[in-house]
Amino acid sequence: MIVALHPEPATHRRFDPARRSAAAASMDGSRSSQENNIEESLCIRDADVRRHHERSLREYNQMWNRLLKKFHPEGIPWPATIFYNILSGSEIFEKHYELIAQDIAVQQSRIEGVLDIGTGPAWLLLALRNHLPDARLCGVDISDAMVATARRNFERFYPHDKTELTVGNADNLPFDDESFDCVVSTGSLHHWKNPIAGLNEIHRVLKDGRHAFIYDLVRKLPKEIACEVRRKFGSFRLTLLGLHSFEEPFLDAREMLSLAEKSLFRSAEIRFVGALCCIHLKKSTA
Ligand SMILES: C[S@@+](CC[C@H](N)C(=O)[O-])C[C@H]1O[C@@H](n2cnc3c(N)ncnc32)[C@H](O)[C@@H]1O
Repeated sequence: MIVALHPEPATHRRFDPARRSAAAASMDGSRSSQENNIEESLCIRDADVRRHHERSLREYNQMWNRLLKKFHPEGIPWPATIFYNILSGSEIFEKHYELIAQDIAVQQSRIEGVLDIGTGPAWLLLALRNHLPDARLCGVDISDAMVATARRNFERFYPHDKTELTVGNADNLPFDDESFDCVVSTGSLHHWKNPIAGLNEIHRVLKDGRHAFIYDLVRKLPKEIACEVRRKFGSFRLTLLGLHSFEEPFLDAREMLSLAEKSLFRSAEIRFVGALCCIHLKKSTA
């Protein structure tokens, strides 16, 4: 069962011509039926124009995204790893990793093994270590410079930890079938050249009945989520996030769900955790 939990976008509700003409009629009972008909046809035209405008904007966005994806490197190479490590080690990111670690720990009980795909500097695994002191933690990243950074971060904060950090691609994971009872990923999906193959690999390494949580930023936040993010983190950071989406090939929530529909997973839902959109996948072979 593939379901979207987020409500229909506000734009779909706002420009309902039937509702607008009914409202107009109730406001002015003295109007002739001809005037009402004109009003109604104007509303329909207005809705058509807006629908056309939205479609053009969507097509333009998709074109821009395809272009970005073409030139966007799949893995983050050195020296960008240095910059990303500093940026993602900042307080605001730390809050996000903690929020996600809590989300994972709450959503699933008895976690013995977790795989983080596109682990980057491994801040999420470090946050998860606090919640899951005895679990087997593994991180994989396509960039060997990132894996080296992740190892240094673990060495610094948990010098004797057994967390496994490996170079590998999401679409060809270096792990046996059914090795993990939880698979996670943050901010990496939009980098993957073969996202459906990546989701199918997650399905392969996940144990039956267990869950995967794939979090990523989206091109446009739904209005109510943007308001919540603005309230928590301020307008300046929300604007930075908006600007960031011009130079990264982010998907939107619907596109993330549609990837899940095309994968081997039969159960998926979309929800937001902070500013991140999460595809929550459940493996069930029965
Ligand atoms: C924006 S960073 C996010 C890092 C980390 N998950 C975080 O939230 O800070 C994206 C990471 O995904 C990695 N990556 C991109 N494509 C990948 C792939 N196909 N397989 C594995 N890792 C990948 C990049 O090298 C990079 O480290």
